Amino acid sequence: MCGIVGYIGSKQAAPLIVSGLKRLEYRGYDSAGICCIAPDGLTIAKKAGRVVDLERAVDLHTLEGTVGVGHTRWATHGVPSDENAHPHTDHSGTIALVHNGIIENYLTIKKKLANAGYTFKSDTDSEVLAVFIGMLYETLHDLELSVRTALAEVEGTFGIVVLSTHEPDVVIAARRGSPLILGIGNGEYLVASDASAVISHTRQVVYLQENEMAILRRDGFSTKTIENVDTRSVVEEIAFELAQIERGGFEHFMLKEIFEQPITFRDGFRGRLRVEDGTVRLGGLASVAEKLRQAKRIIITACGTSWHAGLVGEYLIESLARVPVEVEYASEFRYRNPIISPDDVVIAISQSGETADTLAAIREAKLKGATVIGMVNVVGSTIARETDAGVYLHAGPEIGVASTKAFTSQLCVLTQFALYLGRMRALSAEQGMAIAEELVNIPEHITRILDNVEPIKAIAKKYSGASNFLYLGRGVNFPAALEGALKLKEISYIHAEGYPAAEMKHGPIALIDENMPVVFIAPKDEIYDKVRSNIEEVRARNGRVIAIADEDDDRIADVATHVIRIPRTLPMLTPILASIPLQLLAYFIAVERGCNVDMPRNLAKSVTVE
Ligand code: M6R
Repeated sequence: MCGIVGYIGSKQAAPLIVSGLKRLEYRGYDSAGICCIAPDGLTIAKKAGRVVDLERAVDLHTLEGTVGVGHTRWATHGVPSDENAHPHTDHSGTIALVHNGIIENYLTIKKKLANAGYTFKSDTDSEVLAVFIGMLYETLHDLELSVRTALAEVEGTFGIVVLSTHEPDVVIAARRGSPLILGIGNGEYLVASDASAVISHTRQVVYLQENEMAILRRDGFSTKTIENVDTRSVVEEIAFELAQIERGGFEHFMLKEIFEQPITFRDGFRGRLRVEDGTVRLGGLASVAEKLRQAKRIIITACGTSWHAGLVGEYLIESLARVPVEVEYASEFRYRNPIISPDDVVIAISQSGETADTLAAIREAKLKGATVIGMVNVVGSTIARETDAGVYLHAGPEIGVASTKAFTSQLCVLTQFALYLGRMRALSAEQGMAIAEELVNIPEHITRILDNVEPIKAIAKKYSGASNFLYLGRGVNFPAALEGALKLKEISYIHAEGYPAAEMKHGPIALIDENMPVVFIAPKDEIYDKVRSNIEEVRARNGRVIAIADEDDDRIADVATHVIRIPRTLPMLTPILASIPLQLLAYFIAVERGCNVDMPRNLAKSVTVE
């Protein structure tokens, strides 16, 4: 999604902003721009394409000024073009604004401004806000007041940064539904949409709260609500290291993150899992423990990969804790007036903690009286703050747009949550201990898979030209099949579908021919023979079968075209191990096809618009 970096201090702003924008590239964007306050007015450079395209077109080091703001835009209103790129200015060219989010009533405001004679250069909702602030400034002569007055009329979401030649020593930032973070330096301040843009300058940050604005000057800053009530800001330390957001010798962030999984998975249970009595200590849930013990139903809500993790969670929670679970797409949840009672517990799963659909679902659930728990990766994110209690994933920053390590960390946390809840209810210590013991072995199992990637690379090379893939699994491995298909389509642009294996004969079987690779997740569990029959059905129609199978399965090679081996684990933990080769398969296919793995087209890392 869009990214923002602003600066006020004693250094030249442009180089600093450009390096911050590069740190935000992973979020996904299609144009970039920058504006500085020079002695003779605003200097603006903006361009469709990447930050490097902007750098090629304009020598950004010639942009003079110690106050400035930059933006990477992910198009919502209007195509990616130089005109639609941010920053946008008001009619007089003295006020510049960058904006993340969507102004829902921009057409109404635009009409009002047009009737008053104002004109527009772009198709964006953001320019309308810039012009609106400019119009208000003509009568109010106060930038902060003009911003506040404009925002009072705005419907929708925003993270904005505004600067003006009228008040060249001030930067104004405000947020509603779109994150902003202040970087506190020594005689200098940054404002950004993501901590990764400020960490090379300072680790001290303030997370701007919903409906809060910040007024930054060289010698200090203040915060208040958009309604002008002073607020107290808490300075916090960024919870990750710079090295964690660098590629560290890997060709892509995605590959680095796939290889981090033995560590990130262990970080997800370290200090929580108590193997000796088969229980889990989840400090973040202590305040809602009684609520959980009494819960009649659990609703999991999430999007994309996190939703797939939720489906695995449904299986885990129902089998270990015997509590009914429903899994809802967050984007659907809010709009169907869900039936929620105060006895329900809603779990929101999110890597970024900023997904607008998930946030909206949480607010709906809270409104209806449910207890809401977050399972979130990004520390201090909006979802982490807005939920009643929560468990962090501890996967560290995930930069690759295709989620990998966050998924396995979500499964790690969900397994522990199911165990925690199960042990509160009917699960015996022996059963709990068996699961806890095997969870501890998972990092070692993942390492063994990662030690042998060549066969996966060879399969990827063979099938990289395919136009379609089918991914099939049963039971708890059905969501793993969905996730495998999502990974492939996201980064290689090959059409892929996930299905429950037995459902294939009810339709998708019509697609099978010699050109159709079908990936089966086929561990030796209680439905292994049924899955084998499904494999036979594909082979009988000349389909090509890639089977993810246990390393001690000596029968699978009789029916599958290719076999990828994974260590034997408890059936309920198979999705964790199966997802590793599926991530690698998608990765190697995408590389083979020459795709931009870390920044796939049209996608954003954190989807902050509904
Ligand atoms: O940050 P979240 O987990 O809330 O994001 C949800 C989805 O947008 C995300 O999982 C998306 O599907 C990823 N690109 C998957 O790789």
